[in-house]
Amino acid sequence: MARKLWAVRGLAALATGAMALSLAACGGGGAGGAGAGGAGGAPAQAEEGGLVGVAMPTETSERWIADGDAVQSGLEKAGYDVDLQFAGDDIPTQQQQVDQMITKGAKALIIAAIDGTALQSQLDAAAAEGIPVISYDRLIRDSKNVDFYVSFDNYQVGVQQGTSLLTGLGLLDENGEKAADAPKGPLNVELFAGSPDDNNAGFFFDGAMSVIQPYIDDKTIVVPSKQTDFDTVATLRWEQERAQKRMEDLLTSSYNGGEEVDGVLSPYDGLSRGIITALQNEGYGKGDKAMPIITGQDAEIASVKLIDDGVQYSTIFKDTRLLAEQAVTATQDFLSGKEPEANNTTDYDNGVKVVPSYLLDSVIVDKDNIKSALVDTGYWTEEEVASGQAD
Ligand code: BGC
Repeated sequence: MARKLWAVRGLAALATGAMALSLAACGGGGAGGAGAGGAGGAPAQAEEGGLVGVAMPTETSERWIADGDAVQSGLEKAGYDVDLQFAGDDIPTQQQQVDQMITKGAKALIIAAIDGTALQSQLDAAAAEGIPVISYDRLIRDSKNVDFYVSFDNYQVGVQQGTSLLTGLGLLDENGEKAADAPKGPLNVELFAGSPDDNNAGFFFDGAMSVIQPYIDDKTIVVPSKQTDFDTVATLRWEQERAQKRMEDLLTSSYNGGEEVDGVLSPYDGLSRGIITALQNEGYGKGDKAMPIITGQDAEIASVKLIDDGVQYSTIFKDTRLLAEQAVTATQDFLSGKEPEANNTTDYDNGVKVVPSYLLDSVIVDKDNIKSALVDTGYWTEEEVASGQAD
């Protein structure tokens, strides 16, 4: 699919971004000490080039392919060799891949974990070799050997998902204010969360519920299934089929007396597509049985088309090109003996320490701003939006 395209896009973004890939790695000496060792040791000096290991969770979701390609092209442009691996969402595979990166002599690791708690021994080995570890998008937990975290403001992503759901339901106006003509309800809403082993999933859910809960409390919104706690609504491995199955079960158990679903909080486009399939199979989106308001995340092309077609209501756009830039910049900093610049040093406690983080902003995308947010920024072309497929 978009592998080649993304590589090109990544390069374009890197070239045009304010990243100043200054090939900071210059001068001789050992690299990585400042990263893994943290402060205190002799200042590390940089070597030119060298191998960087990039571990991504899966190729089944288009965003991780885009992330992998963008990180790879940015690193290569900066003069590094790259060992890019995808783990097929299998934890032992990812552990083995990271072990091998260390064996091959990687000077830095960029890791988007499948299970945020399953990489301790790999991180211990990296620390023993003085290899800095950058946790990519998903926080690696329960290890002191995580040196930096690059991500989006994940709580805010959740707030945006919740806000967009409320807007779609007519409860908020386009300025985020209580709508003058808001429906009194009760509106039937079902809740989905992401994978419980992904640290982000809780942030997304908590952020969304921070804006939705008041409407549940005042009974404008009801959850007919009564399934509202994170563990019950979570979707292991973010699997589309699992979300489809749960939505089918919810329709059977809680909507068998003529009630209709008005909204679904979905944290990721892949899950949204599973949910949509379940709803369509029950006649939603046909005749006067309207498709509920359904949220998402990642601006995956198939879902952007569904939004354009009025099937899915919204997604959250996280520009993975910018995230890749941050990961490359942090790598360069570590390998030239500098601490990367953090813009958050309070929120991402991984259970052992607060990991210095660089967080990026995300954007709500609905039918009205597909063009300005996604097409005008070069993320997708108009043709791709129209076809629902990456070129
Ligand atoms: C990412 C999301 C993505 C999800 C499923 C999360 O960790 O932050 O962007 O939708 O994983 O791949």
